[in-house]
Amino acid sequence: MGKSNIRTPVPTDFEVVVHRRLSRRGFLGGAAALSATTFVMNAAQARPAPPDSARDPLPFSSVAANTRDTVTVPEGYRWHAVVRWADPMWSDGHPLDPVTGGTGASQERAFGDNNDGMELFTIGQRTLLAVNNEYVNRHILFGTSGPGLPQTADDVRKSKAAHGVSIIEVRQDSGIWSVVLDSPYNRRITADTPMTITGPARGHRLLRTAADPSGTQSLGTWNNCGSGKTLWGTFLTCEENFHFYFASSDPEAKLPDSLARYGVRASDRNIGWSARDERFDIAKHPHEPNRVGYVVEIDPTDPASIPKKRTALGRFKHENAELALADSGQVVVYMGDDERGEFLYRFISDGHYREGGDNAELLETGTLFAARFDDDGRGAWLPLTPETTGLPSPADICVHTRQAASAVRATTMDRPEWVAANPTGPEVYCCLTNNTHRGKEPNSGGDPTPVNGPNPRAENRYGQIVRWRPTGGDHASSTFSWDLYVVAGNPAVHMGPNAGSPNLTTENMFNSPDGLAFDSTGMLWIQTDGGYSDEGDFAGQGNNPLLLGHPATGEIRRFLVGPKECEVTGVTWSADRKTMFVGIQHPGERGGSHFPGGSDTVPRSAVIAITRDDGGRIG
Ligand code: FEO
Ligand code: CA
Ligand code: CA
Ligand code: CA
Repeated sequence: MGKSNIRTPVPTDFEVVVHRRLSRRGFLGGAAALSATTFVMNAAQARPAPPDSARDPLPFSSVAANTRDTVTVPEGYRWHAVVRWADPMWSDGHPLDPVTGGTGASQERAFGDNNDGMELFTIGQRTLLAVNNEYVNRHILFGTSGPGLPQTADDVRKSKAAHGVSIIEVRQDSGIWSVVLDSPYNRRITADTPMTITGPARGHRLLRTAADPSGTQSLGTWNNCGSGKTLWGTFLTCEENFHFYFASSDPEAKLPDSLARYGVRASDRNIGWSARDERFDIAKHPHEPNRVGYVVEIDPTDPASIPKKRTALGRFKHENAELALADSGQVVVYMGDDERGEFLYRFISDGHYREGGDNAELLETGTLFAARFDDDGRGAWLPLTPETTGLPSPADICVHTRQAASAVRATTMDRPEWVAANPTGPEVYCCLTNNTHRGKEPNSGGDPTPVNGPNPRAENRYGQIVRWRPTGGDHASSTFSWDLYVVAGNPAVHMGPNAGSPNLTTENMFNSPDGLAFDSTGMLWIQTDGGYSDEGDFAGQGNNPLLLGHPATGEIRRFLVGPKECEVTGVTWSADRKTMFVGIQHPGERGGSHFPGGSDTVPRSAVIAITRDDGGRIG
């Protein structure tokens, strides 16, 4: 692969910032000592150290990039599908009709579409997976009714039922994991499931509607992206692109700035819900969009429990919710708002976690903060309070969280996706997936998005992973130090900034880091949702991969390559750590895959299980 781009001879902002952030801290081992120029020039040639066979923390040979329509794992590992979109969860369900995409009734008894974040729970001998179903592949879901658009009331019922959360009991027999049909724990939570609104915004005027004048009970959750798991055994599901689902029956309607900030528009975006269910019609029910965009807490062990919308954790396009414990015992939740130029957040509970105690309402009240990153490698958490933001009350901050963070001048970020806290030490990582508006356009609130420390490239196509260490090792500390763990790029095509950092090579290169999870040994699993054309900027990168990164050395190896047109997401582990569950989301989203059935089957999002041939642990 030739070098098609010649880097500019003068230092760019990127080089200056990367020099500061990679050369001073030594996070990246020997490579970190390189000068900015050396760094940029050597990015394509950098090679990780060969593995130490006996104690190799990355015990596999890197999988080569490829564009096959299957899952590729290293030698010594195997995989199988556990559950796919539309697989029945009860014995009265119906297998998928690939021509019609099923019905509303069949979807309500089946695993949802587009599985994303997931977490595993153990109850006695039982294993539960709580899995987000983020959105739907419309060109497949509506089958012959389409094309790609809901035409009937039942299409809308099916679409709403394919969203939300699927809780399934799974069991392993002869090495193969599958769904336990009719388990008392199996549960579908959809866009119509009753929810309780909790926290500061509960009952607030902005949350009251015609159907719920008390502002305390809403219906459903949708566009559930990343996830979280609490220390007390509940599942956190994060409402991301909630705005897509609203539209106005009055096309001339002037939307308030508060809705425009979140991207709500009058025109339908081919979702079709507002025409069949008027709570999605903002001309009739303008407060409905204020009742979504939250983290929702679900008790997977109690199928009758009512999910709780946790307004204390703020309203934005939530990616995931990563828990950590402060030295005081207060619960800390790190959260990203995945939109170009939006912010990174932290919540600290008022109450304290007590092992074995009643922790059920710890996410009810607390303080929100937004992150400010300074170019000198320091940073601060800026509290969002009526005093700091000028907003009238904590409830207003919980509803208009983006506006609150703008008011304190937090740092505009390159689309913060998942956050992950290292269980073996007080450091936290966040995927900044990409941002083609960086240095070009302000965010939707008008905040400028200049090239800055953790977001060092204009029109960022590849993404990066930023990490920080709280001062004194305490997650409640008001300050931190930060650096970049990896700057993604393509060293086979570019020199200069778009070649990426030294630990990004032609062997492990990737783009658009998205999901992020630490295993129990403190290794970092990097999931991707990026360009898979294998051409141009993405030449040689193949389908989206799953990679394993060593935090201390910076070494990264490609562990898995997904099928065509998929995103790899949702990594979690069985209790014995001998199985890793991985989400394969939207294979064939452009019609180019038959995963996992092969031949002429429709592609289906799926949860897969990966095990080692020798029965050993994976993370
Ligand atoms: Fe649903 Fe930001 O990914
Ligand atoms: Ca996704
Ligand atoms: Ca994501
Ligand atoms: Ca993404």
